[in-house]
Amino acid sequence: MSQRLEVRLAGGRAYPIVLGSGLLGDPEVLGPHTGKQALVVTNAEVAARYLGAVRRSLAAEQVDVFEIGDGERFKTLDTYAAILDTLVAKRHSRSTTVVALGGGVVGDVAGFAAATYQRGVDLVQIPTTLLAQVDSSVGGKTAVNHPAGKNLIGAFHQPRAVVADVDTLHTLPKRELLAGLAEVVKCGVIADAGFFGWLEAHAAEVAALDAGATLHAVRRCCEIKAEVVAADEREQGRRAVLNFGHTFGHAIEALTGYQRYLHGEAVAIGMAMAMALSVRLGLAPGSDAQRVQRLLRAAGLPGAAEGVSPEAMLDAMAMDKKARDGRVRLVVCKGIGRVSVIADAPRKTVLAAMEDWIAD
Ligand code: NAD
Ligand code: GLY
Repeated sequence: MSQRLEVRLAGGRAYPIVLGSGLLGDPEVLGPHTGKQALVVTNAEVAARYLGAVRRSLAAEQVDVFEIGDGERFKTLDTYAAILDTLVAKRHSRSTTVVALGGGVVGDVAGFAAATYQRGVDLVQIPTTLLAQVDSSVGGKTAVNHPAGKNLIGAFHQPRAVVADVDTLHTLPKRELLAGLAEVVKCGVIADAGFFGWLEAHAAEVAALDAGATLHAVRRCCEIKAEVVAADEREQGRRAVLNFGHTFGHAIEALTGYQRYLHGEAVAIGMAMAMALSVRLGLAPGSDAQRVQRLLRAAGLPGAAEGVSPEAMLDAMAMDKKARDGRVRLVVCKGIGRVSVIADAPRKTVLAAMEDWIAD
């Protein structure tokens, strides 16, 4: 059972997102997307469950595997360099395909290696977390972290295909699944009030991995992301809306040493702060902020941030890639389903919005 979407980019470029169940063991799905050589980048957790099926389905004559360490702390230049060393050592040519099998960490670092090996080789994303299926595998952002900040080193490199098998979500730890739900909620807030309303009624089914509800949620998020990326591939403007809640969230992650919160959890708190800011600026009604908060809490996501202060967050936010000329740019909500980017939020108001969602 599979469904197919297209991400259409400028210049007639396009790639498919194949969504469904039972895809990883199907040579007809994965086979067409590699040439003679492939390097599967994954980690031990994911490899133990899914590498066998993927390996059997790839049509390449030479399939090598590189396992990275598990977790955000391995999204580094060292890991990136080790992937490149493997490509060189195994004599991969310019027509090789890097296959990223795993969550957003694997996808981002493997994607960056694909973007730069011999000035760019093909990349196939096989996302196995909810976050990666609804967000990171689509759109071509690749990166590694620098001690000074998240995703500071990277490149845009669109995949040749994305294959999202929702069956893989059944082995995902519950906390990771719920963190992914934060990005699903984000899709509703930024682009589709109807989908947000659907989530209010069906988020529990997605959290329980009901097949129909999960596929609907993943598909709608991929459609929204594809549409935004098609309009602004390199984030000259509109694409920044995908970062709703993320500027606050990235600061929370950095200040808590990437240890206390999963990315999606920090984004959930960041969305609460972004809604508080939007209400304080008179852009969104308080009732919308309450709806977002209710949905996030019902999804089991954290409420207030611990271990951060508003001032320290503002300092960390100055490092954000969206900051221009020293001004922090923030995505605000103008009513569920509509967002825009502002650069002129008064400092006092931003601090107060963060204060609203920092635990005493
Ligand atoms: P992750 O990649 O660390 O995966 C989460 C955990 O789940 C890991 O321990 C992993 O080993 C495990 N796992 C993965 N799939 C599994 C499965 N099917 N069964 C059991 N365990 C499984 O985290 P993530 O949330 O997927 O990704 C977060 C990363 O994505 C961050 O680095 C973030 O910056 C990045 N990101 C990138 C973009 C983008 O556009 N490129 C967008 C959003 C987030
Ligand atoms: N996750 C933000 C983006 O892809 O632009």
